[in-house]
Amino acid sequence: MMAAESQNWVLMVTAQTPTNIAVIKYWGKRDETLILPVNDSISVTLDPTHLCTTTTVAVSPRFHQDRMWLNGKEISLSGGRFQNCLREIRARACDVEDTKKGIKIAKEDWGKLHVHIASFNNFPTAAGLASSAAGFACLAYALGKLMNVKEDESQLSAIARQGSGSACRSLFGGFVKWIMGKEDNGSDSLAVQLADEKHWDDLVIIIAVVSSRQKETSSTSGMRESVETSLLLQHRAKEIVPKRILKMEEAIRNRDFASFSQLTCADSNQFHAVCLDTSPPIFYMNDTSHRIISITEKWNRSEEAPQVAYTFDAGPNAVLIARNRKAATLLIQRLLYYFPPSSDDLDSYIIGDKSIAKDAGI
Ligand code: DP6
Repeated sequence: MMAAESQNWVLMVTAQTPTNIAVIKYWGKRDETLILPVNDSISVTLDPTHLCTTTTVAVSPRFHQDRMWLNGKEISLSGGRFQNCLREIRARACDVEDTKKGIKIAKEDWGKLHVHIASFNNFPTAAGLASSAAGFACLAYALGKLMNVKEDESQLSAIARQGSGSACRSLFGGFVKWIMGKEDNGSDSLAVQLADEKHWDDLVIIIAVVSSRQKETSSTSGMRESVETSLLLQHRAKEIVPKRILKMEEAIRNRDFASFSQLTCADSNQFHAVCLDTSPPIFYMNDTSHRIISITEKWNRSEEAPQVAYTFDAGPNAVLIARNRKAATLLIQRLLYYFPPSSDDLDSYIIGDKSIAKDAGI
């Protein structure tokens, strides 16, 4: 029973979800509709102050259809991914009562009510900075809160996964593993937290925004082409990643930066090798990305132990993980030396809890 004296009420929930960056990459699906991956992956969730999505979901009897705005512009909700997330959350909705507003929504009424969704990214959308990860995680979380869904974060992650694979990992902070699962219905393909935010707080993440333009090949179509054409992808998924996952879990557990950095860089490079092995080949990195790799590799080799790990997603932007604040400071000095603000190579740096724009005159 939907109770409220008038039909003018609106019930709202706002949530904020950070993005995550994979250190062992997800690339390739075994089921396109349910978004089931060909291998496990591991990520680190970023500080929510930067690179996060804020989503407000609202429900009212006055809404006549589900609608969504992304960064202030209305977008279509007709895509299967949004519908799948909405359907899964609605199916788990429970009774909601807001005594202050005098609103009572019975579980069975959620199917008759429509939602409005407004989502904002505080960073460039679809530029290879995992915007869909933060976006769908936030959507699933906010809708879950609105509809009083009782599922825990892992179960919610399996719903966010159906919006965008990498989104399932953003339901947790710290280090997160997306278990690929074995079931055909995807019920066991979900995220679990390996270690919380405080576990390894020496690490500093710096993102060198090489380009904030939207990428030419989306992750979805890129990985579909890789699954269809790359033999290296098959080998990677079956032979390489399972062993790497175990080693990465151990490195995280022991805060072993040398192993962490070696595995992170190797996995990023193999992912981009798979892209090159795809027909036609996909190029996500550019010359600036390659220079950043060379600079980092050279520096790591000139020290007794590695100082910085690099990883690149489906775009040219570098995610650099420094072993501690001292290494982060030296890294920034190096980046500013090789890519001075007067050059056109980088758009901006996003540093730990600070974002320094190039035109800020650094
Ligand atoms: C390179 O999660 O964006 O960032 O599931 O098709 O939405 P869909 O793809 P998406 O792919 C992310 C790929 C990646 C690696 C990773 O995040 O693991």
